[in-house]
Amino acid sequence: MKNSGRNVVVFYGSQTGTAEEFAGRLAKDCAGYGMKGMVADLEECEMEDLARLTELENGLAIFCMATYGEGDPTDNAQEFYEWLQAGDVEVTGIKYAVFGLGNKTYEHFNAMGKYVDKRLEELGGERVFDLGSGDDDGNIEEDFVTWRENFWPAVCEHFGVEATGDQINVRQYSLKVHDNLPPEKVFKGEIARLRAFENQRPPYDAKNPYVAPVKVNRELHKSGDRSCMHIEFDISGSKIRYEAGDHVAVYPINDRATVESIGKRLNVDLDTVITLTNVDEEASKKHPFPNPCSYRTALLHYLDITHVPRTHVLRELAEYATEEKDKEFLMKLTSATPEGKALYGDWVLKSHRTILHILEDLPSLMPTLDHICELLPRLQARYYSISSSPKEYPTSIHITAVVVSYETKAGRTIKGVATNWLALMKPEDGIKHTVPIYVRKSQFRLPFKTSVPVIMIGPGTGLAPFRGFLQERNFLRTEGKPVGDTVLYFGCRKKAEDFLYEDELRKYEESGTLTNLHLAFSRDGPEKVYVQHLLKKNMTETWKILEAGGHVYVCGDARNMARDVHDTLLYIIQECGKLDTSRAADYVKKLQNKGRYSCDVWS
Ligand code: FAD
Ligand code: 2AM
Repeated sequence: MKNSGRNVVVFYGSQTGTAEEFAGRLAKDCAGYGMKGMVADLEECEMEDLARLTELENGLAIFCMATYGEGDPTDNAQEFYEWLQAGDVEVTGIKYAVFGLGNKTYEHFNAMGKYVDKRLEELGGERVFDLGSGDDDGNIEEDFVTWRENFWPAVCEHFGVEATGDQINVRQYSLKVHDNLPPEKVFKGEIARLRAFENQRPPYDAKNPYVAPVKVNRELHKSGDRSCMHIEFDISGSKIRYEAGDHVAVYPINDRATVESIGKRLNVDLDTVITLTNVDEEASKKHPFPNPCSYRTALLHYLDITHVPRTHVLRELAEYATEEKDKEFLMKLTSATPEGKALYGDWVLKSHRTILHILEDLPSLMPTLDHICELLPRLQARYYSISSSPKEYPTSIHITAVVVSYETKAGRTIKGVATNWLALMKPEDGIKHTVPIYVRKSQFRLPFKTSVPVIMIGPGTGLAPFRGFLQERNFLRTEGKPVGDTVLYFGCRKKAEDFLYEDELRKYEESGTLTNLHLAFSRDGPEKVYVQHLLKKNMTETWKILEAGGHVYVCGDARNMARDVHDTLLYIIQECGKLDTSRAADYVKKLQNKGRYSCDVWS
């Protein structure tokens, strides 16, 4: 930082790229206040050097910290988190501010942001501005913009600096167009290493996924217009190991027709091979995505073209509008005024206008494609709870995925990227379909002792990991191991429509692997029956299992189901244990701390 005259470092702990994107925007802002910023991946920094920030004039550290899963740090912030927890951390006097990113549907909302903000103060850091918190379940863009609006004036006051003018739009990456690169030097969708998909080499991880053949892809719904896929990835010979309860990450590809439409709308030959290189030579990120690659590859494999663009993207693109009214419209839409926020909320968010929709709706807007490639976030891997056990399927990984398709309030049909891409992969076509995957270890595990009883609650695709657990328990039982009671709560709309894996569950019921199968069909009768209603009805059984040291697992929808089940558990503990509210809450906390109550939920 000293060598390059920088005084602001914006660290990010990011899982899906949003925190990284916000960090980039804050670093870019610095120029407007006579400061010089840089973005830094927490994983790549020697945090022991943080204390030396005080050696810089107006030195400031900003942390954009996302919370992942059950209040956990993101993968790249794991070490930083451990380091902060240690007793001998030296950060006295450093100036800092934290923006936390989270999702209110989860119990531990913004746990990491809160922790870092508090811990740095405890360790002697000086907070320059209040902790910001973004809620991905609401409008995280607006949360961030609003925080930033107040953050910079506070920085100016703190350091006695002044804003030097409007936001400065500077290109972060320079473009090079290649004429005759040999094909083997051009990326075709690999995540990090050139030709990694052709020359596969273990170990496989996020940067080096395994290109797994799709062995099976069959429909699980028996009727109705929705679709749920049972997919088996072949991992034989890959040396990949997994456990029941782990997640598998899938790198999807965007819809080809949408990509072609973007090229056509902008009049660009998508076969053009380009390299984008960071103009900041000291930046840790040299390229926004693996390149050289063609525009087509960038749009298909590397860029998120289906989420709605954030305000800073549209602001930078506004300058390309040849008609003044379009430019003014975009400037208004992206301004931090209440009017601008309302317009963005309505025209972009509510209508779910993607980059292509915006280009189509504003014909005078003619941005360069390389600038769009610089601005759009990275296409993210999608996670799936593995629905098999390696005991029964050592050479394949199964997933259970609902095909996402929904209509927005404005009448637009939105199709999920990964699930609609996977839906096309039918091995019976005679084509060898492959999918880049890697296994992400989880904490969602059956009890170590097989004799411990378990209650599994998983409506809809929440059944996925429990299919793996059942295979595991079935295997152990047939091997003659003592296996405790195994109780499953499954819920779906209609017995004849979306009862997933009915045959398998019935067989486990008959064989005794499944001690009790409780089924909640929500749309078969006059009243909705949900898993938690049955849990409550069977509270004596639940309490008995809890008191016998049993484990409770919940999987599926984080938004409503997991919360409702949690409340029901609290109620049962209060009633059966004759405890007041606070003691019942303590009981639940203890279960969680001992790993006896685990959730694998998503929204
Ligand atoms: P995207 O293109 O990513 O679109 C999905 C997005 O569309 C959602 O994020 C949501 O913002 C929006 N959306 C979806 N439906 C609606 C609606 N009705 N109204 C408004 N907006 C909507 N999925 C499974 O099917 N099975 C699993 O076992 C499973 N396990 C998971 C485990 C973990 C740890 C996590 C984090 C997620 C899991 N998911 C699972 C979800 C999965 O990762 C994907 O998010 C899902 O398949 C959609 O991906 P997509 O690319 O098809 O859709
Ligand atoms: P519904 O769609 O008829 O309301 C799998 O999605 C099952 O979960 C469906 O039967 C769905 O019912 C049900 N479900 C919806 N909201 C729920 C909640 N808050 N708690 C438990 N189950 C719920």
